Amino acid sequence: MGRSDGAVGDVAVGDDSRGHWSGRTVLITGAAGLLGGWVARELLESGASVLGLDVAWDSPRATTPPAGVERIDGDVRDTPLLRDLLRRRAIDTVIHLAAQTLVGPAIEDPVDTFSNNIEGSWSVLEACRNAGNAGSGDGKGGVRRIVVASSDKAYGDASGRPYREEMALRPHHPYDTSKAVTDLLAQTYGYTYGLPVAITRCGNLYGGGDLNWSRIIPGTIRSVVEREAPVIRSDGSFVRDYLYVRDAAAGVVALADAVGEQPEIAGTAFNFAAGVRLPVIEVVRRILTLMGSELEPVILGLPLKEIPEQRVSAARARRVLGWRPRSTVESGLLETIEWYRSYLTKAA
Ligand SMILES: NC(=O)c1ccc[n+]([C@@H]2O[C@H](COP(=O)([O-])OP(=O)(O)OC[C@H]3O[C@@H](n4cnc5c(N)ncnc54)[C@H](O)[C@@H]3O)[C@@H](O)[C@H]2O)c1
Repeated sequence: MGRSDGAVGDVAVGDDSRGHWSGRTVLITGAAGLLGGWVARELLESGASVLGLDVAWDSPRATTPPAGVERIDGDVRDTPLLRDLLRRRAIDTVIHLAAQTLVGPAIEDPVDTFSNNIEGSWSVLEACRNAGNAGSGDGKGGVRRIVVASSDKAYGDASGRPYREEMALRPHHPYDTSKAVTDLLAQTYGYTYGLPVAITRCGNLYGGGDLNWSRIIPGTIRSVVEREAPVIRSDGSFVRDYLYVRDAAAGVVALADAVGEQPEIAGTAFNFAAGVRLPVIEVVRRILTLMGSELEPVILGLPLKEIPEQRVSAARARRVLGWRPRSTVESGLLETIEWYRSYLTKAA
């Protein structure tokens, strides 16, 4: 499959707030991933210079970044590389998204996920600490804004109650635990060292550029394009709070802006979700309807070790950041379907 056909920049963005990132150099880790590509696009359009670090730029799962991203091959656990980049390239902002993000592989090989996600996070945070904090008056210059991606999965099973940021993190499964530890590490660097770091806890992301076909939305769309019945591994009842990736990217950038201006946000987490809570079977049915397909999903009913129901309150992000999702589930899914149709046609 031709990666060069998969640039997230293939879809037009109709955003308006532009230019105020001019003169800032941003390092995005995990830039070859779903969210990284869209955050890069958002920042470039706002005038930033963007360096994209990823360990798997050449993987078939990597999306082509928008033009203008400087690609850096490397592992976030390589602390000397990070220190060198922060110092030599005068990085102003770090957006740490790199992680092993798939729940199934995390259960099969927890140590790989813990190493990528936990060691990777302390490596990034420690490099930022050593680069100094421009706001601390230590005269070392350094990183002014840091955003670290945690996840709504860090909360664990809250028996269907909406997650709020003040709730305790009680994860039970390996990926979820890796994100909770990432979250706590970022809080620690914020509180103890005064690092200007804030944390995102997003609901389930979807959108063009996600080439992880085991995820339900890309997998379903590809099945329909290929006229094959989509497969649901669970019994279809798991409820997730979905968020269109462009809305998530806007949230990440708004949070980076805020943590640079408001020191009191350091060490604080923000939920991001659209309040679109759907069982997996309903997501699949909506995609089938939007794509005009009469295929019937195959429901495997496997006993998956996953949280049964996730609901996310994004009230804090609305109140503090003025963030709101711009997309409805229908508009987000339609743009996503359009992206995959174009990508799969070109790749065929
Ligand atoms: N996708 C979601 O539904 C979702 C929801 C909530 C939170 N998140 C979090 O948001 C972040 C971005 O998610 P995504 O969906 O874009 O993930 P993704 O899997 O699409 O991208 C992650 C990227 O990180 C890279 N990476 C992994 N380990 C690395 C390492 N050691 N060094 C350098 N690069 C490495 C991968 O190669 C990949 O390109 C992750 O931290 C994830 O945990 C995602």
